[in-house]
Amino acid sequence: MILEIKKYPDPILTKKAKKIKNIDQEIQKLIDNMIETMYAAPGAGLAAPQVGHSIRLAVFDSSVKEEEGRLTVLINPEVIEKNGEVIIKEGCLSVPGFEAEIKRPEQIKVTGLDRNGQLITIEATGFLARVIQHEIDHLDGILLLDRISILKRNIFKRRFLKKQKTESEEQAAQE
Ligand code: NI
Repeated sequence: MILEIKKYPDPILTKKAKKIKNIDQEIQKLIDNMIETMYAAPGAGLAAPQVGHSIRLAVFDSSVKEEEGRLTVLINPEVIEKNGEVIIKEGCLSVPGFEAEIKRPEQIKVTGLDRNGQLITIEATGFLARVIQHEIDHLDGILLLDRISILKRNIFKRRFLKKQKTESEEQAAQE
């Protein structure tokens, strides 16, 4: 089932998500639906808060940009190592139409659980490292907009509010 993707400024996107204690049937179903929703979007990653669940779960597949990419389900992730710094342009399914050059560690080592509750360690660099860090940000309630300068953020917010106003006026005119 394809789920509705929550968009900025939905408050769930700015909440710190809770750790998962029990990977039950409900979580398994959510994982399947998140995978379907991510591929349908299409996106390289999706975090549970983006579909309305404030829990520490993300799915990603970097194969849109990297041949070696594959589908990964990551539960309760922790970054245990980070090295270097690189600027890469990022977008987000929850902030449609917005892209920004963001500086983050180039290489990371992450641990977490897979959907069977097995401990996994991922060493990532390049686009995959970027996707994983972006998704972990979502679990911490951090959006791309929080990673850009205040000046750029204000420009975005002004444009966004203006667009929203225009859309609601158009809707009112149609009614
Ligand atoms: Ni995102």
